[in-house]
Amino acid sequence: MKIILLGAPGAGKGTVARLLTETDGSVQISTGDILRASVREGTELGKQARGYMDRGELVPDSLIMGIMKIRLQEEDCKKGFILDGFPRTIPQAVELEKILETLGIKLDFVVNLEVPREVILDRLTTRRTCLSPECQEIYNVKSNPPTTDDKCKKCGSPVMQRDDETEEAIIRRLSTYTQKTSPLIGFYQREGILKNFVSLDSKETVGKIREALNKDR
Ligand code: AP5
Repeated sequence: MKIILLGAPGAGKGTVARLLTETDGSVQISTGDILRASVREGTELGKQARGYMDRGELVPDSLIMGIMKIRLQEEDCKKGFILDGFPRTIPQAVELEKILETLGIKLDFVVNLEVPREVILDRLTTRRTCLSPECQEIYNVKSNPPTTDDKCKKCGSPVMQRDDETEEAIIRRLSTYTQKTSPLIGFYQREGILKNFVSLDSKETVGKIREALNKDR
């Protein structure tokens, strides 16, 4: 599959993307995960991105496009990919179209995950993430808790809250989403490739996305 996942922070993009990769070996490409890894490793990209991320603002388009131009040409993308958290602005979407055209890649469609705001706020304050860079499993203290001593069930590493999960940063991320990312819904609707999914149960959503993929083939 070759799809884009759109949705507000906390809509469940990461959770749905991980479940989808299990179905056909497509790779999840999360710009958030790439940036967090760069921050942890102290790379030049990480140093430039950190302040924006901690404040809940978007990292400049030029930084993101530099990463994604290279990432989309890597070997593992040939099996298929799920873009999680990218594109995030209209300029990123326009640039992505050019890259895909150059590479001769056609998207199946764009998935928009619709989740009520109160559910999102609850999910973001109760999310926990595995600290292991190789694992980064997503948990939720209410719906999918880690072990009782806050360890990852998959790899045993500690499970923590992300740096951008302060109340202030969450409010800023939601407002950034409304201003800069939600216009992408109209952008892809006009292109005729948008599919909306009300997503309260991630497994059910994955089933519906699979169904839509099979129907389109
Ligand atoms: P990023 O990592 O992309 O964060 P985000 O979009 O804010 O999305 P989240 O990861 O917070 O949420 P999600 O939708 O993946 O939800 P999840 O599955 O975890 O970006 C972080 C930062 O990096 C940005 O703020 C920006 O600074 C920068 N950045 C990244 N990409 C960029 C770009 N392209 N351009 C510029 N800057 C960029 O689920 C949330 C919680 O809910 C979890 O606890 C989960 O267990 C729970 N949950 C999920 N689904 C369900 C369900 N069905 N039922 C119950 N609980 C559920």
